[in-house]
Amino acid sequence: MASSDLLVGLEIGTSKVCVVVGETRPDGTVKILGVGQAPSRGVRKGEIVDFETAMKCVHEAVVDAEQKSDVMIRSVYVGVAGSHIHSFNNRGCVILPEDRDEIDEQDVEDVKINAREVSLPAPNAFLHSIIQNYHVDGQEGVLNPVGMLGHRLEADFHIIHGVRTRIQNTIRCVKELPLDVEDVVFTALASAQVVLTQQQKNLGALVIDIGGGTTDFILYVDGAVKQSGVLAIGGDHVTNDISMGLRIPMARAEKLKIEEGSCTLGNCLPGETILLKDDSGFAGKEIERETLNTIIHLRMRESFELLKRKVDQEDFINYAGAGIFLTGGCSLLSGIEHLAEDVFDMPAHATHAQTMSGLTSAVENPQFATAIGLIKYAQAVGGDRPRRGFAGRWLGKIFSSR
Ligand SMILES: Nc1ncnc2c1ncn2[C@@H]1O[C@H](COP(=O)(O)OP(=O)(O)O)[C@@H](O)[C@H]1O
Ligand SMILES: [Mg+2]
Repeated sequence: MASSDLLVGLEIGTSKVCVVVGETRPDGTVKILGVGQAPSRGVRKGEIVDFETAMKCVHEAVVDAEQKSDVMIRSVYVGVAGSHIHSFNNRGCVILPEDRDEIDEQDVEDVKINAREVSLPAPNAFLHSIIQNYHVDGQEGVLNPVGMLGHRLEADFHIIHGVRTRIQNTIRCVKELPLDVEDVVFTALASAQVVLTQQQKNLGALVIDIGGGTTDFILYVDGAVKQSGVLAIGGDHVTNDISMGLRIPMARAEKLKIEEGSCTLGNCLPGETILLKDDSGFAGKEIERETLNTIIHLRMRESFELLKRKVDQEDFINYAGAGIFLTGGCSLLSGIEHLAEDVFDMPAHATHAQTMSGLTSAVENPQFATAIGLIKYAQAVGGDRPRRGFAGRWLGKIFSSR
């Protein structure tokens, strides 16, 4: 198989490292060949805090993916998250010279460059500049201005940026293995490529990817990205609350959350309890089910409220006609859709990658949405384009996508 047919997505999450190997088909579809994973260590709130340990986990997941898919992995698309990731919208403008009135590709490049002529905080670097809309001589909603007549080309971009060294640490972690890094992609942008259809992007949709240490979000309105970002809260906080609140070890709290937990209150029989069996170093305990659910409910409600406050800083959320799409491991929490609906006052759906063939179990696991989405993203930007020096590319790149 030609290596250009293969695309590999790598997410170094707070809970797990996940590597998905996909094969692009001539008809444009992607088939998942294999998924490798390893528990994540050395990663906190989406960021690498112990380089050597994180690298070992990535290596483990890559080897697992190679065995499962029976291919050699040489290069990957890597997801980045962390609360250092921020975004804003900005408009670029280019005036054509007097002797020319047809817009060409260079003008489109120039307007992108112009939109990025804003000062980021000194330690930050651009991650994505995503086109929202072009305007030609005031005409709105132009999809492709190349070849059109006009004098003034304007373009609105959604710009995502993050702390340069933290992004570089992720890149180094992969390059040391050694693997080539084809590109770095904001995790929620990757997830959105597979949890949303184009129609849902057009209708307007908020994707919330809730992992172990972060909640990554991206909002589409009219098919364009309008808001995105990361909150440093995730399922680990819920587990921690359960452990502290019920005075049980973290590992038991995690298991209890996954097997018995729910965000819904008032659904239990009065006095209903869960018996935790004794274990080495743990005496066993009886837990009130409603107490467990209250702990989960309160933390998840608080997380959604924080996110709502963040997206409410602008009014785009009011145009998210398709509603909310929850993914990531925490979207498996029972009752989470209702809680999101209650807080945001709009329909919410727990979902996973929708548009892939291959290993069904992998596609249907929301924990893999980001890694699968990276493959879809890679396919959209042209996975078999010639390779260039990576560091130069991500620092200088301007990615256009709807
Ligand atoms: N069945 C489940 N029910 C509830 N929570 C779950 C379930 N499976 C995983 N989780 C939670 O999802 C989180 C991990 O999600 P994941 O998307 O893999 O995170 P990350 O991308 O940060 O590694 C953990 O907090 C874990 O407890
Ligand atoms: Mg994740």
